Amino acid sequence: MARGKKIYEGKAKTLYEGPEPGTIIQYFKDDATAFNGEKHASIAGKGVLNNRISAHLMTQLESIGVPTHFMKQVNMREQLVRKVEIIPIELVMRNIAAGSLCKRLGVKEGTVLSRPLVEYYYKDDSLGDPLVGEDHCMVMGWADPYELEEMVNMAWRINDYLNGLFAGIGLRLVDFKLEFGRVWDEDGNLYVLLADEICPDTCRLWDTKTGEKMDKDRFRFDLGDLVEGYQYVAEKLGLIPESGIMQDGSVDEKLAEKLSNIENELASARKLRSINKAKPRKA
Ligand SMILES: Nc1ncnc2c1ncn2[C@@H]1O[C@H](COP(=O)(O)OP(=O)(O)OP(=O)(O)O)[C@@H](O)[C@H]1O
Ligand SMILES: [Mg+2]
Repeated sequence: MARGKKIYEGKAKTLYEGPEPGTIIQYFKDDATAFNGEKHASIAGKGVLNNRISAHLMTQLESIGVPTHFMKQVNMREQLVRKVEIIPIELVMRNIAAGSLCKRLGVKEGTVLSRPLVEYYYKDDSLGDPLVGEDHCMVMGWADPYELEEMVNMAWRINDYLNGLFAGIGLRLVDFKLEFGRVWDEDGNLYVLLADEICPDTCRLWDTKTGEKMDKDRFRFDLGDLVEGYQYVAEKLGLIPESGIMQDGSVDEKLAEKLSNIENELASARKLRSINKAKPRKA
């Protein structure tokens, strides 16, 4: 599939114009960064694994009715997605205390929260993606109340689904980060889609039995080989063979290329639900 001009180079992915207007090719890089870019490394295999895992999770979510930007996995490093206008808010859903929540509030890591907690972070690297409240999102014009409601509803649904999915393969979904974007149809109706990626870079996943961390914290805190953790997740999800996709420290290209032929094309079948911006009627 022909990819067009480079649009954006992020820390984990590069975006190119897609073959049709309104589409984008997401290229998953091997780069790993942490602490707002302070720590950086290139880790062979990471891009391939994240592409595969994210394509799979997005497909699963589509199948339960969560509208996503995902269209198709193109090859081992690239996927075709719908171009959206990214809402500049990272929504974090937490089930168990970890990471910045522990640091900020002094909660002990591993504390199971009384219910899932939704947090918003303003997407701005120069400010270090600060924690913000719902009111900030609305007053600053990053999202309106209807969009926020749609995002939160989707996040709860995603959390319920992914909790079960990961529990079934012996992993605890500790927390995860979501990004959403806007698209409009010809009639000007607005749709909010799940965008970006869902993978061990953006989720915390702990082994149920051993507590071993299988996510990006391996890189952040030097807890072990990152690719081993990501391969563990991919293998448990049934996406790669037990023997993994690496050979002598690099990706087994032949094997990895075959992994991209699996995911289906949901784009044509998708049914989107536009946001109803009408004021709720008083009872
Ligand atoms: N469907 C989409 N349409 C347009 N942009 C998208 C889409 N999905 C994801 N993006 C954006 O593409 C970029 C992905 O690159 P990457 O994840 O590497 O960025 P990043 O380094 O984390 O930077 P950022 O702080 O901008 O997220 C992000 O800015 C993300 O918001
Ligand atoms: Mg990102």
